[in-house]
Amino acid sequence: MEIAIIGAGGVGGTLGRLWIKKGHQIMFGVRNLQSHNVRNLIRSTDSGVKVGTIGEAASFADVIVLAIPWMAVEEAIKSAGDLSGKILIDPTNPINADLTGLIIESSTSAAEEIAKWAKGSKVVKAFNSIGAKTLDNLQFGLVRADAFICGDDFKSKTVVKKLATEIGFDTVDAGPLINARVLEYLALLWIQLAYSRQMGPNIAFKLLTRAGGA
Ligand SMILES: NC(=O)c1ccc[n+]([C@@H]2O[C@H](COP(=O)([O-])OP(=O)(O)OC[C@H]3O[C@@H](n4cnc5c(N)ncnc54)[C@H](OP(=O)(O)O)[C@@H]3O)[C@@H](O)[C@H]2O)c1
Repeated sequence: MEIAIIGAGGVGGTLGRLWIKKGHQIMFGVRNLQSHNVRNLIRSTDSGVKVGTIGEAASFADVIVLAIPWMAVEEAIKSAGDLSGKILIDPTNPINADLTGLIIESSTSAAEEIAKWAKGSKVVKAFNSIGAKTLDNLQFGLVRADAFICGDDFKSKTVVKKLATEIGFDTVDAGPLINARVLEYLALLWIQLAYSRQMGPNIAFKLLTRAGGA
């Protein structure tokens, strides 16, 4: 599959490297082709990694990951051009500077705002409630970390579910895009546990279930 990743930092770089290993064609869309992140990326991938502007990357693929800070997303969407029909994977967290709360009204979410800006696209919230470094190893003893995925388009969620499974996640369909409101708070809990509670970034969420629902 062809996948564009906007941003080449912790989340984008890691997802890109993992998907390249699974045989996907990745193009990174970046603001600066010479950045430390881009140089690192080129060094750490054997071949096949393409890097271009945000617009070039967005037109390369029908699946696009917005792996950039929340505050940069609206501008990036403008630079991306026509996104109608494309799957936009949103791992962003609109977190305040001291990591204690969200900088977005509770009556919306980053993902819902993205859906308004990128008209006609299919936004799927995913990969936001786990640390970037943890993406490299999603196995915790006998269990795998869960990727909580929400969005309004079932087919797009199926695509994202497959991409998550390929890199080692179990997946949980967390319902429609409006549930991004709670997934963004779930990320805040992850941050609080990892940093304020000093559990460190090697933690992940798992939904426990019983066979038969009993
Ligand atoms: N870090 C985590 O553990 C984690 C976990 C889950 C979700 N997230 C979310 O995922 C997103 C990316 O986080 P990250 O940790 O990967 O960040 P990061 O390591 O700081 O990388 C951010 C990337 O975005 C690019 N960028 C920054 N400002 C930009 C702008 N104005 N226009 C275009 N590109 C810009 C950077 O470009 P340069 O390379 O030029 O600096 C870099 O490639 C954030 O929304 C974050 O909340 C992070």
